[in-house]
Amino acid sequence: MQDDEVSGRAGTIDPHSAGAAPTADSAAEPVSDPALGSVPGPAVGPASGPASGPASGLATRAIRTGHQRTAEGEHCEPIFATSSFVFASAAEAAARFAGEQPGNIYSRFTNPTVHAFEERLAALEGGEACVATASGMAAILATCMGLLQAGDRILASRSLFGSTTMLFDKYLARFGVATDYVSLTDLDGWAAALRPETKLLFIETPSNPLTEMVSIRQLSALARANDCLLAVDNCFCTPALQRPLELGADLVIHSATKYLDGQGRCVGGAVVGDAKRVGEEVFGVVRTAGPSLSPFNAWLFLKGLETLNLRMQAHSVNASALADWLAEHPGVTRVHYPGLPTHPQHHLVGSGPEAQQHSGGGIVSFEVAAPEPDRARAAAWALIDATEMLSITANLGDTKTTITHPATTTHGRLSPEARAAAGISEALIRVAVGLEDLADIQADLARGLETSAASTR
Ligand SMILES: Cc1ncc(COP(=O)(O)O)c(C=O)c1O
Repeated sequence: MQDDEVSGRAGTIDPHSAGAAPTADSAAEPVSDPALGSVPGPAVGPASGPASGPASGLATRAIRTGHQRTAEGEHCEPIFATSSFVFASAAEAAARFAGEQPGNIYSRFTNPTVHAFEERLAALEGGEACVATASGMAAILATCMGLLQAGDRILASRSLFGSTTMLFDKYLARFGVATDYVSLTDLDGWAAALRPETKLLFIETPSNPLTEMVSIRQLSALARANDCLLAVDNCFCTPALQRPLELGADLVIHSATKYLDGQGRCVGGAVVGDAKRVGEEVFGVVRTAGPSLSPFNAWLFLKGLETLNLRMQAHSVNASALADWLAEHPGVTRVHYPGLPTHPQHHLVGSGPEAQQHSGGGIVSFEVAAPEPDRARAAAWALIDATEMLSITANLGDTKTTITHPATTTHGRLSPEARAAAGISEALIRVAVGLEDLADIQADLARGLETSAASTR
């Protein structure tokens, strides 16, 4: 057993909350990190330099923030592949455990590579604190465990990732935290469903897979007026397109597995928010229960973040063109894409007064035409199976375009009634548009649409 479990650890330095909590702006600043005090060779100052200070832009922060260069002078962020950290003396160990001296102890909760990723993501989202987790689902679990207790209720959008709904209904419910569901887009419905026990509002905007949206500004005002927290799963947009904290949300959740990595290499997650709730409460869960991010994965995410801004713009350009083309295709009955002027919440996209996300993002869903409703699944599967380049996989946020049938994959564990209530039909196909040449993505889908039409004729 690692001895951080003993009573002395209660006062151990928490790198997330040590010192003054950074503000949204100062989170971007290269800070002197007490957690790095014990790395081999003294940290010789931030590698980021003035270029990633508070006034720096998003792309600069995504590339520079968080790296404290060691005495080796490395240019790229190092991977601290170590489970524990060594103390110079018994007295230093005691001081570290008692929380009297800053520094690393054990990689379940203090690892410099993981911490660099946390600092960088906090700077991008404009949050005081970030806690990295082993997966996106671990981020949601740690958030609920850290901030809720038996008797509290969650009020959630009906259009959530399937595992999130399962987590709420099957597991949190067992521990006395029940969840009520409302339509994501119905603001009056949110207000009507609030109960005195409601403590957390939980949304994805845009939602998976239908890309529905809700005004984060309006929902956060409702949350605030009713003493609730608003958590936004920002997986589809990332801070490159949408920053929920700036719009009034309290917590941002990430499946870093998706666009933050961007290349489909590993699983991870994160929670971003204020120093007390995230830096102490959520961090405390991760530290104690251990759904911690590995330093290897943190390093991949650091590399992924460096190209996030460019990638998100390119995903949006490809997806927008593909959505336009699908909308005109006779084999398609409906296209769901926030960038289309026909999308019901299109006013939330772009640069208008109500806009909350800069562009449409990389996810396009559409319903394939089927001669009868009971042949919709056959039509969708025929299309998917006829593609040759697109990857048939449920992951998204990759440079490679992926295609999936939500009703039988990501949302397959939901009851048919719950699926229907979420608007996920058997004809629905989700494409996470990658960065290949648009013409090649389009040609592959054209082949799929043709085969689907022929097979169900
Ligand atoms: C919107 C959304 N949130 C959360 C998750 C869960 O993330 P992870 O698979 O990293 O646990 C996913 C996974 O697909 C997702 O799409």
